[in-house]
Amino acid sequence: MTSDAAPASRTTGDTAQPGQPGRPGDTAQRSLEHWSEAGRAEMEAFYALATEDYHQLALAADWPATLGAVAHDGWRLLDVACGSGKFPTALTTYTDIADLPELAYDLLDPSTFSIAEARAQLRPPFRAAEEFAITLQALPTDTEPYDVVWATHALYALRPDELGDAAARFVAALRPGGLGLVAQATARSHYLAFYDAFRAGVRDETPYTSAEQVRDALESAGARVRTQVITYTSGTADRSVAEGFLQRCAFDDTTSLEEMEAAPVLGDYLAGCRDASGAYSFDHEVMLLWL
Ligand SMILES: C[S@@+](CC[C@H](N)C(=O)[O-])C[C@H]1O[C@@H](n2cnc3c(N)ncnc32)[C@H](O)[C@@H]1O
Repeated sequence: MTSDAAPASRTTGDTAQPGQPGRPGDTAQRSLEHWSEAGRAEMEAFYALATEDYHQLALAADWPATLGAVAHDGWRLLDVACGSGKFPTALTTYTDIADLPELAYDLLDPSTFSIAEARAQLRPPFRAAEEFAITLQALPTDTEPYDVVWATHALYALRPDELGDAAARFVAALRPGGLGLVAQATARSHYLAFYDAFRAGVRDETPYTSAEQVRDALESAGARVRTQVITYTSGTADRSVAEGFLQRCAFDDTTSLEEMEAAPVLGDYLAGCRDASGAYSFDHEVMLLWL
């Protein structure tokens, strides 16, 4: 997208409306409400554990070589669903990429709160550039293609019935020979398994989108996808840390850990995540979908 094409889609509030109006049980709408200044404490509680997701992505590839293969003067990157910038932060913290040519880093997210948070995190070789306060599925198809497009732990709240459109936009935004990456948890990984149990035991909501669904949608959109799977655990013996993490996993800071543990279905799932001492450990299986 050129900067000229963006203003019609931009918004000025903390959050933008998604393609369709919100409705009860609409996970996409609740995601947008929680990626806001009002959701900051909940977000920070989540990242007490979830920062590990980005550490693991930083370990999963030889990033200087992977990015170096597509680097050139004037290269451009689009971060889809940039959130609060944990992935670029992990790359600049744990990998040795500072000597790459300066990379113009465009931020796309329907939440202007997220864009501002991510922008503040960028360090060399990343240079904050354009901002697009829109959903991926609203990205114009005539966007000027990027050298790098990535979306890391980003597309869970994307409605399954809008995934085909979103995948087509993602593929179209990448120049031939460029580097594309979606990192997303699989259907059996904690984020998806937890939310399925929450939906069954606490409140029905639109399901999260899984890595398998994203992979199929990218292939249907014409992409050749190479799949890499990583597994790891994250955990804590501190119940308040576990509560904060789990509440954000469901975008629900009103249901206590005790209530979750007592809920049908969800209680069984959580019992399987606890050891004899009561400490929590969550199993993650994440697909890296390389284009
Ligand atoms: C968990 S964060 C992504 C984390 C991020 N990749 C990072 O490095 O920290 C999820 C983000 O997805 C955004 N989001 C939700 N639905 C979206 C959609 N349909 N298109 C683009 N972004 C979306 C949310 O507003 C939120 O900022």
